[in-house]
Amino acid sequence: MTASAVRLTARGITHAFRDLLVLEGVDLDAAPGEVTMLVGPSGCGKTTLLGVLGGLLVPRSGEVRLDGEVGPDCLNPVTYVFQDASLLPWRSVAGNVSLVLENSALPPPARAARVAEVLAQTGLSEFSHAWPKQLSGGMRQRVGIARALAVRPAVLLMDEPLSALDAQSRALLLDDFAALIASAGVTCVYVTHNLSEAVLLGQTIVVLSRRPGRVRAVLRIDRPIEGRQGEDPFLVAMQARLWSLIRDDAARAEREIADA
Ligand SMILES: Nc1ncnc2c1ncn2[C@@H]1O[C@H](COP(=O)(O)OP(=O)(O)O)[C@@H](O)[C@H]1O
Ligand SMILES: [Mg+2]
Repeated sequence: MTASAVRLTARGITHAFRDLLVLEGVDLDAAPGEVTMLVGPSGCGKTTLLGVLGGLLVPRSGEVRLDGEVGPDCLNPVTYVFQDASLLPWRSVAGNVSLVLENSALPPPARAARVAEVLAQTGLSEFSHAWPKQLSGGMRQRVGIARALAVRPAVLLMDEPLSALDAQSRALLLDDFAALIASAGVTCVYVTHNLSEAVLLGQTIVVLSRRPGRVRAVLRIDRPIEGRQGEDPFLVAMQARLWSLIRDDAARAEREIADA
């Protein structure tokens, strides 16, 4: 699969739900084929920002642009992966993945080839006929990723894709994500509140303040994602820096939610 050549840019994004101001003047640059992490305390507007980036929400002000070439076989340039894969229980793994191709002009053999390809990419080939209820949470989440990749997206918007999983499944899937994201070569915006995930997968890390979310800092990790080790002193220091940036905000956000 070729690397995505698409850049996603947001400028001056402000958004409110009625009179609740959620995002204020947020800029974001997701470089082609890179992982841009979005971190910040609970309720600061991360999911809202992904909604704006993907065109699900029209911001009060600001603009989102996609620049560059979308591949000829791309069926949906901007595709989401959510916390919970929401698989249809009455369809097999392959059936859930092929669902997203059913309204396309692709002839059936091409669909089948694509399904087989993304199942192989996500390590699911031997589970192609399994039912969702037979799979662990981590495997179900893989199916969600396979389904997203099947449309050959230029941009993947991932909203806490690992946070519904137990620690072990999360660690396993995290390792595979690194390889997968690198090989799929898509431009990726990835929301997490888990700072070790942020330093293991992020190339650019955008730190949002508590609500209304504003950009507090943009950090850069210029090393390949594959092969990163959590114990690497540079990454440990980076994670400490991230925590120092959001600690006070996170503590306040926590209390606000408890009060509400
Ligand atoms: N559809 C909505 N209507 C009203 N308020 C919303 C809606 N979606 C989110 N919010 C509020 O906007 C704020 C930001 O939410 P969200 O973007 O989900 O935060 P995060 O993903 O960073 O935890 C929260 O206070 C949340 O309650
Ligand atoms: Mg959220």
